[in-house]
Amino acid sequence: MIGVSPKTAVVEDFAVRAAATERLLKQAPSQSSRVPNESEIWALLLELAKRARTGNPVATPCGLRLDDLGRLESVPAERGWLPETAQTWFDTSVRGDHELFRLLELYLPLCVGPGCQRFVLGHLGQSLDGQIAAASGASRYVTGPENIRHMHRLRALSDAVVVGASTIAFDDPELTTRLVPGQSPVRVIIDPQLRLSHDRRVFCDDRARTLLVTSTNGRTPCHTARGVELIRVPDAEGLLSVPAILTELARRGLERLFVEGGGVTVSHFLSAQAFTRLHITVSPVFLGAGRPGISLPPIHDMNDALRPSVRRFDSGNDVLFDFSFADQRQGGTSQNHQT
Ligand SMILES: NC(=O)c1ccc[n+]([C@@H]2O[C@H](COP(=O)([O-])OP(=O)(O)OC[C@H]3O[C@@H](n4cnc5c(N)ncnc54)[C@H](OP(=O)(O)O)[C@@H]3O)[C@@H](O)[C@H]2O)c1
Repeated sequence: MIGVSPKTAVVEDFAVRAAATERLLKQAPSQSSRVPNESEIWALLLELAKRARTGNPVATPCGLRLDDLGRLESVPAERGWLPETAQTWFDTSVRGDHELFRLLELYLPLCVGPGCQRFVLGHLGQSLDGQIAAASGASRYVTGPENIRHMHRLRALSDAVVVGASTIAFDDPELTTRLVPGQSPVRVIIDPQLRLSHDRRVFCDDRARTLLVTSTNGRTPCHTARGVELIRVPDAEGLLSVPAILTELARRGLERLFVEGGGVTVSHFLSAQAFTRLHITVSPVFLGAGRPGISLPPIHDMNDALRPSVRRFDSGNDVLFDFSFADQRQGGTSQNHQT
């Protein structure tokens, strides 16, 4: 008898369920739910994120969709807009072709279930040779338009977007959600030496609140006069404590965090084991020696390599790796479900 490993059986089971759900979504409205479009699915995700933010997340798989007024509506599973993969919202094996399934699969872990009330998600868009910008600091754009939209979506799903001082110095970004529906997050800038000039957009415009994180030993900047809130955390030889930053943000109700870059900042958060998820989008381009993405202390034994569980998504010409660290913290094994 040919043995079937439990893992293979599970994968097949999910594939069958995904195909069945897709068939259901394509049926006529009289027989089932009508097929939602992409903006409706995005609106559903925003509503789910709002529930998570207010401390009342959708915790267990169920049939959900939006009613005509855009309110969350509980319906029988077969009429809902979510894939009918009971208990498996976070399973990484289901990969339907349907673009809507991809949208749900990518963002649901941030919107439903036990981990959605607080998360720390990092993101970097990098070249094949591991750079996030050219040596000059130019980084617009390493990745394609799909990934830029993805970053705006991540901002919309988060309470706060966190970036390092060099990103503000080089890019002068707005850090808003102007490419997608959804509220702009609070902007958190890590500037230990208060070296940033006060004419940067995040300090001048009123598109979102801005918090400036600096050292307890630092001086008082002129930004405070402009309504920018100053947060002071302890530092050790210039390195601000990441756990202390997270505590200060949580005290202000900011617990769904998107760390958008650059490489130095994301690497500090990764070293501090602060991430629940990390998105690395790899673009098929070579930048040569530039500004590196992740940079960690060396290892000498391959057994010490960091191997978080991962899902892969196509993003235009780029490939998005969605790493989850939750399994490792819970003592689970890491798996690449897509290979
Ligand atoms: N492709 C992408 O995904 C992406 C995303 C964002 C930015 N970028 C590009 O990347 C470049 C900037 O990235 P980068 O890696 O050079 O720098 P960065 O991460 O933007 O900023 C690093 C700086 O932020 C401060 N900082 C951050 N965390 C800190 C901590 N825990 N403790 C103390 N200080 C902390 C330090 O400021 P001090 O230097 O004052 O000590 C540090 O040098 C730019 O060229 C930008 O265009 C690319």
